[in-house]
Amino acid sequence: MTIKIAIDGPAGAGKSTIAKKVARLLGFTYIDTGAMYRAITLKVLRENIPLSDKQKIIEIARKSDVFLEGEKVFLDGEDVSEEIRKPAVSEKVSIVSQIPEVRKILVNKQREIAKDKNVVMDGRDIGTVVFPEAQLKFFLTASLEERAKRRYEELRNKGTDVKYEKVLEEIKVRDDMDSKRKDSPLIIPENAIVIDTTHLTEEEVVKKVFEEIKKIVRGEI
Ligand code: CDP
Repeated sequence: MTIKIAIDGPAGAGKSTIAKKVARLLGFTYIDTGAMYRAITLKVLRENIPLSDKQKIIEIARKSDVFLEGEKVFLDGEDVSEEIRKPAVSEKVSIVSQIPEVRKILVNKQREIAKDKNVVMDGRDIGTVVFPEAQLKFFLTASLEERAKRRYEELRNKGTDVKYEKVLEEIKVRDDMDSKRKDSPLIIPENAIVIDTTHLTEEEVVKKVFEEIKKIVRGEI
């Protein structure tokens, strides 16, 4: 038996930071599913494919080699880990991720990567669609302002010139699209443990996650 830990939630709630840390501490594989949607979006933008051309986008998703190695993301062999985080990709990714065929291709890939492994996986539909049987499901959230602040600081620290208001707007639009799409919308999975991280430090969130892991180990859940 393998263990799957699902971490879902909206943009900037701290999912990837917490998922990476928990995976490292447990010796599990970390799988960043958002990075896969971002990599496909990057290729669509690079090839100047109109976002209204669903067939071309599906073709790109089918033909591309998206590969995760630790915390790095490779697109057709090229390390795109930095580039996929740029605002140009963030602004368009939710348009690409709402195409059902694109989701099907990537969800299959995600299941294949995680097969036979203990994983911590973060995304929007992990506990609901990718691994509904996950032993532990977390839903991380935080206020919109706090999430925008974190994302703004993250981008600034990387040297990206952005305005707070623009980041806030981008996150708001993306939240809306991700929550309202027909296929696999962002919702709180049944039985998920909801953690509001607005006033919590990274350490406090990791501690809460481990408290839940211990309950499972002790057979309390
Ligand atoms: O890091 P951030 O929270 O900004 O987003 P991400 O996890 O990198 O995901 C980027 C986008 O990919 C999301 O806004 C969703 O549109 C899409 N996504 C998805 O649809 N399903 C997933 N399992 C993961 C991401």
